[in-house]
Amino acid sequence: MDIPLLTIVIIRIYYQIEINFHSHRTAMYVCLCNAVTDTQIRHAVLGGAARMRDLSNCLGVAADCGKCACAANAIRRETLLQIEEAQSLPDAA
Ligand code: FES
Repeated sequence: MDIPLLTIVIIRIYYQIEINFHSHRTAMYVCLCNAVTDTQIRHAVLGGAARMRDLSNCLGVAADCGKCACAANAIRRETLLQIEEAQSLPDAA
C-alpha cells in the first residue's frame, strides 16, 4: 500500500512538534475560562485551526474574557512557523 507523501509529511511534522513540546515540560493552561492548554492549541493548529477564529470555535479560546488571546495567538503563530519549517526540510519536499 502506497502512503501519500502528504500524509508522511503531516505525521513527521506532528511528531517533531510533539517531541519539542512534550519532552521538556508539561502542558500549560493558556485559557483559564475554558481550561485550554498550550498543547491543545498546538494540536488544533496542526489539525487545521490556522486562525484565531478557528481556535475560538473549536476550543473556546478567547471566547469569554479574552485575556488569553495574546498568548494563544503567540502559540498559534509559533506552531504555524514550525509547520512551515518542517515542510521546508529538504527530504520532506
Ligand atoms: S482566559 Fe480565555 S477566554 Fe478567559
